[in-house]
Amino acid sequence: MKRNATIIILTGIIVILAGALIAVLVYMRNQPAPQRGIEPLVEIAAMEPDSSIWGTNFPNEYSTWLMTRNNNTRTNYGGSEPFSRLEDDPRLLTLFAGYPFSKEYNEERGHAWSLEDVQGTQRIIETTHATCYSCKSSDNPRLWDELGLQGYDAMLFSEMTPHLNNPIGCANCHEAGTQRLVVTNPSFENALMPRIWIGSPSPASKCAPLSAATAMWSITSLGMTRS
Ligand code: HEC
Repeated sequence: MKRNATIIILTGIIVILAGALIAVLVYMRNQPAPQRGIEPLVEIAAMEPDSSIWGTNFPNEYSTWLMTRNNNTRTNYGGSEPFSRLEDDPRLLTLFAGYPFSKEYNEERGHAWSLEDVQGTQRIIETTHATCYSCKSSDNPRLWDELGLQGYDAMLFSEMTPHLNNPIGCANCHEAGTQRLVVTNPSFENALMPRIWIGSPSPASKCAPLSAATAMWSITSLGMTRS
């Protein structure tokens, strides 16, 4: 009799606990998707190349992006003053002999200058391919989407010039709407593939933001150790 009572009580406890667990799971499942803290002021189109439009929603980030126009300072790590590296260390003329870098090799400036600076360098000649624009413009994600990597690279630098109006900007690294990090440059993704596991850059992949963040972290770290 005593044993039966214990079994009934234990069974009751298990049923109550199981019921509570199911209730918690159902409750969690029915929660609304997390929302941004603040409603965006403007809707940003997918792959919007104009950073000033993103700037309406993100004035802090945009204002620091604008600072890349005039923060031309020289630091231990190279900085962003466009001094001639060839004048700075003429041994480079020998090291790069025969390569375009022996013609002109200036320290790079900030993102806001990327388009002007690549167009102004003597390394570009008539037969240069559009590939040299790959890391220089926020119009690229849209163009890769339309042309594919091969179509893009098949064009000449001069043919691509009229299609590009914006230097590196928000669309190179962020997905409009969610602001999450995405790898937009197909060559960059191809280069990373054999090195680290990387999710698809398409928004469908839950892993893409993580791997994109890892990739960008790697780039930043590499950039900082270079001198
Ligand atoms: C070269 C790549 C790159 C460009 C260009 C870029 N970002 Fe970012 N952005 C990042 C990275 C990397 C982070 C840090 C993400 C993290 O720490 O999770 C970030 C973070 C942010 C965040 C903070 C997100 C958060 O969770 O708090 C905002 C907002 C943002 N960027 C807006 C912009 C805007 C607006 C522009 C254009 C003016 C821009 N970014 C251009 C790479 C970039």
